[in-house]
Amino acid sequence: MREKAFVFYEQIRKLLGQRAPKIAIILGSGLGGLAQEIEEPLNIDYSSIEGFPKSTVAGHKGRLIVGKLSGKEVLCMQGRIHLYEGYQASQIADIIKMFKLLGIESLIVTNAAGSLHKEMAPGSLMLIKDHLNLSGFNPLIGPNDERFGPRFPGMSEIYTPPYRAKLKELAAKHHITLHEGVYCMLSGPAFETPAEVRMCQILGADANGMSTIPETTTAAYCGIKVLGISALTNYCTGIEGGNPSHEETLSTADKASANLTFLVKQFIGEL
Ligand code: HPA
Repeated sequence: MREKAFVFYEQIRKLLGQRAPKIAIILGSGLGGLAQEIEEPLNIDYSSIEGFPKSTVAGHKGRLIVGKLSGKEVLCMQGRIHLYEGYQASQIADIIKMFKLLGIESLIVTNAAGSLHKEMAPGSLMLIKDHLNLSGFNPLIGPNDERFGPRFPGMSEIYTPPYRAKLKELAAKHHITLHEGVYCMLSGPAFETPAEVRMCQILGADANGMSTIPETTTAAYCGIKVLGISALTNYCTGIEGGNPSHEETLSTADKASANLTFLVKQFIGEL
């Protein structure tokens, strides 16, 4: 069977015409606001791409938007695909491989996450410096196509150090609180128990979420540079009385969205 990435690529390449984005953005739960800032948008609904997974979660629209942000051509996924929806990690990998075929060189990933520290308050942002994959799945499981990357890719620097340095510089310059830490992915959709939250803390996690790692692992494998930012939408279960819900995630993401949008636009302007 042909790699899904090629099937998606051929359909999308035709729709793009002269447009050739080198930057891709994936927007997390409740963080769709950035998409409204894209100029001269070309919208491509996931449902119009044959074989493309559909986004089934509230707060995730389900379309690609291609256009200009801070003067640069970008390809934005408004609405991501999660393991907890029943998708395979390899289906998420197919999308990132399609990015690679389109010529994407930089990937900016955002997500909503729960804070594991009382000092990292909901509403603030966390730059991802590394991750713990506790989802139970790796997106690269399956036959390897050497055209995308090696069978056993190294993962020593998924979250590109110069990108992190640039974002910290921008946050400091504009007085935006930006924590930095380790993002831990669990499959969800259930939020963690208090014991699971303690486990994540002991393992060295700083924020918990249910996404991102399939995308960033595949990007690193394909040689795409990655910037990852979490909007901390709540305290994890049991921390400062935390008892997360999807409603809290969406409403706090909305509040964090302005700073996130601002920083991402500044970052893209300097890429
Ligand atoms: N845990 C896991 N995923 C999340 C959380 C959380 O507390 N908040 C938003 N996504």
